[in-house]
Amino acid sequence: MNRSELERIAKAMVAPGRGILAADESSGTIKKRFDKISLESTEESRRVYREMLFTSPDIGKHISGVILYDETLRQKTSGGVPFADHLNALGIVPGIKVDMGAKALAGFPNETITEGLDGLRERLAEYHTLGARFAKWRAVIDIATDIPTAFAIDANAHALARYAALCQEAGIVPIVEPEVLMDGAHSLERCEEVTSAALVAVFAQLAAHRVHLEGMILKPNMVISGKQNANRANAQAVADATVRTLKRYVPSAVPGIAFLSGGQSSAEAALHLSLMNQQAGLPWQVTFSYGRALQDAALTAWAGKPASLGAGQAAFGKWARLNGLARSGQYKEGMDAQAT
Ligand code: 13P
Repeated sequence: MNRSELERIAKAMVAPGRGILAADESSGTIKKRFDKISLESTEESRRVYREMLFTSPDIGKHISGVILYDETLRQKTSGGVPFADHLNALGIVPGIKVDMGAKALAGFPNETITEGLDGLRERLAEYHTLGARFAKWRAVIDIATDIPTAFAIDANAHALARYAALCQEAGIVPIVEPEVLMDGAHSLERCEEVTSAALVAVFAQLAAHRVHLEGMILKPNMVISGKQNANRANAQAVADATVRTLKRYVPSAVPGIAFLSGGQSSAEAALHLSLMNQQAGLPWQVTFSYGRALQDAALTAWAGKPASLGAGQAAFGKWARLNGLARSGQYKEGMDAQAT
């Protein structure tokens, strides 16, 4: 393991003013997104969509890294340049989703364990030759009556740490993603309790597996009320609870925290990030690794029509820029309505 190289890549991924685009939707997930705009999901339509995002004007100003899916890492621009090379040339680090999804955890109804460790060493070696310099593995923790169990949290933390250690061995920076879902009517306090338990378990396992914390990125959920909660906590409460929780459980050796959007609207996700970055004395870079919050408007504006590629790029560029502002606390509520 070349520790200084891992540290260099991790720092570049969380550089000030920029953040990560999660464009690693599996074929099943991207089909769901395309269904919403009545577009057939084919290898070519997926390529065209990703090319629209990756060739968006000025993408390198606000995007530091892009998470790709296996298929996408093997695809090229219409000019024949592999996407990984194209991104690298713009100063954007290419990454790859390596987990194989959350599967039912036997014996634990309604809980999941993320699979994908078998053969991972070999897959990481290939991804490295294809240009990937960071990876992502997502563990999913759902909140409902009687769940999550401590067992499921630990099993997922163990798998995350095994994945992270294998990544570092291969010279790849692991994004460690324990996602506590927003689905449900639970309170912000309940989310804080579960997020705390998940972070405690994850960092205990990372230490036990000898993961080099300076060469990884944490991708957590924000501490937020469930989507179906009738009395959802406001944006300042979300920012305060999230920073409080992370300060308690995330070592300052970790260079950066890159949030997932998890079903928040684009405006909510940008505002929460901005409010967090307004706080003084954060011990890590606090940035974004958004999928839907960066892409939703772009998908709608494009709608699969060649004539609307520019409109799709403009919508993507707008949210990349606004989240870039949120990196230094400069995004303000309502700015999205004025911005083009
Ligand atoms: P969302 O921002 O849409 O939650 O996606 C981020 C991600 O990569 C989830 O694994």
